[in-house]
Amino acid sequence: MTVKVYDVPSEWANRAFLNDETYQAMYHRSVTDPDGFWGEQARRIDWFKPFTKVKNTSYDPHNVSIKWFEDGTTNVAHNCIDRHLSTRGDQVAIIWEGDDPKDDRKITYKELHAEVSRFANVLKARGVKKGDRVTIYLPMIPEAAVAMLACARIGAVHSVVFGGFSPDSLAGRIEDAKSSVVITADEGLRGGRKVPLKANADAAATRAGGVDTIVVVRRTNAAVPMQAGRDVYYDEIAKTVSADCPCEEMGAEDPLFILYTSGSTGRPKGVLHTTGGYLVYTSITHQYVFDYHDGDIYWCTADVGWVTGHSYIVYGPLANGATTLMFEGVPNYPSNSRFWEVIDKHKVNIFYTAPTAIRALMQAGDAPVKKTSRESLRLLGSVGEPINPEAWEWYHRVVGDDRCPIVDTWWQTETGGILITPLPGATKLKPGSATRPFFGVVPQIVDPAGNPLEGPCEGSLCIADSWPGQMRTVYGDHERFVQTYFSTYVGRYFTGDGCRRDEDGYYWITGRVDDVINVAGHRLGTAEVESALVAHPKVSEAAVVGYPHDIKGQGIYAYVTLMSGQQPSEELRAELVAWVRKEIGPIASPDVIQFAPGLPKTRSGKIMRRILRKIAENEFGNLGDTSTLADPTVVDDLVNNRQASQ
Ligand code: WTA
Repeated sequence: MTVKVYDVPSEWANRAFLNDETYQAMYHRSVTDPDGFWGEQARRIDWFKPFTKVKNTSYDPHNVSIKWFEDGTTNVAHNCIDRHLSTRGDQVAIIWEGDDPKDDRKITYKELHAEVSRFANVLKARGVKKGDRVTIYLPMIPEAAVAMLACARIGAVHSVVFGGFSPDSLAGRIEDAKSSVVITADEGLRGGRKVPLKANADAAATRAGGVDTIVVVRRTNAAVPMQAGRDVYYDEIAKTVSADCPCEEMGAEDPLFILYTSGSTGRPKGVLHTTGGYLVYTSITHQYVFDYHDGDIYWCTADVGWVTGHSYIVYGPLANGATTLMFEGVPNYPSNSRFWEVIDKHKVNIFYTAPTAIRALMQAGDAPVKKTSRESLRLLGSVGEPINPEAWEWYHRVVGDDRCPIVDTWWQTETGGILITPLPGATKLKPGSATRPFFGVVPQIVDPAGNPLEGPCEGSLCIADSWPGQMRTVYGDHERFVQTYFSTYVGRYFTGDGCRRDEDGYYWITGRVDDVINVAGHRLGTAEVESALVAHPKVSEAAVVGYPHDIKGQGIYAYVTLMSGQQPSEELRAELVAWVRKEIGPIASPDVIQFAPGLPKTRSGKIMRRILRKIAENEFGNLGDTSTLADPTVVDDLVNNRQASQ
């Protein structure tokens, strides 16, 4: 296969912060002298008390410990807001674009300062103190960013839960974080449809227990039940507090937030990020990856419920004094032109979205794009899953009019910020490749025995040493942190992704090598979907795998064995899909349910997922060795049923 290479456009070579030479030099310094490099870069934020130590990290599985700038003190809200007031108080910090194209709002840094301070005082009035966990379950409204920054201001630890998660999922996160305060809205609004957030929060609070405050932001003004003593409307309580709230002095390693994410096994993990290193890392990546210059209008379409929203809607951009756009809606409402219309309306220069959205819009054809101008656009970005070259080419040619470089950014909730990515003024692009490592990042591709491979190769992607944005632990379970990331390949951080390195040293992420699937850019553990299915009274066993899906990247394929006496039917299929939506949320709805009288298991009872993946992918000729199965005939049944259903 010949790979097309896109050179750095000449105007980019002239205007960008970095060209290839400066990238090479800074990269070299960052990995040979991390203390010097990061010690200097950390000055991009204000410190209350300067740090004297830069890096203090160990990947030794007996003592995994990650600390950056550990004796310095600072505050994230101070850096994202207060320090900009003297130079850019009247500059717009957040442009909010509502679900309905008629709804929008602009918030200056001065206004953001007042709102965040007031929200912080509301939290204090409800007893929230430094170190307390606050759960945020909000739609994409400015109050989501305000609530996050309010927590940061007073040293509370936020746990943002995506508004698409079910009451059960929310309850699990409230419980795990031992969070007694929940911030929600009466309802959310997406694509013209209402989401009953307060009702979900009520159900979750009852299930989880221990919630003594629910702060309700009014979004649709729907009448929602309010429990006296526990529930307060934000606008009402906000009137009773002052708009003056000093920033708490935080240690660099004090927690900033917990964000739950799915892994191979068990329940979602609380990924813990801390203060100093995270902010330095999101700031530097936002500046260089997006080549953000003063005055640029920057738009990341993610939801703040995911890490992309945390790092690249809120913290990175605001630390850099940027204007960041926050979008409440969806790409196809009211029409498939919505993204491009928003770009024209707000003169967006930098646009960052996910391959799944690109593929869905590509299917709608070029016309909805071409009727808009997009002349303000300069740079495009992609994140969340591998982007196939066809979608990349379409994004480049049709959306970017062959003019805008694409930064395909590879990273994870765990990494806090972007680790492998092109830099638009420095890196030649290859469609489908995340290209080269960012400063301080040393990728290693290892074979199954853990030996690092040299030159062009393919294997599992590890990172050899720490960078400041790395997660510090799994909240409440450091052992799980060590087990998950540092025990597979001892002495390295294991990403869970497969990866290829080509002859130019470019990295090509090939997708997860564990039991995590990536559905429309949303990360899900197959074990979570399985445990939801087996919780249904008619299901005895379930095995879930991912399969290639044209738009979503991966779809969810569930093999279900019913309790004896239960008959497969279309009704039951629909019932199970609805059940999983209710248990986890709509993002986990199975695309295919295959009723299976038996599942392929080894003699020790382990389900052979490899075989199930192949069958789901329609690759019957290539099932591999089935002789170790307890009952090899099970496979024939599965294949026959699969073929019969097509
Ligand atoms: C995948 C999202 C290929 C990968 C920021 C990773 C990608 C998982 C890319 C993390 C990319 C993310 N190319 N794959 N540019 N970006 N991924 O935690 O499998 O929601 O491990 O973080 O998404 O998903 P998460």
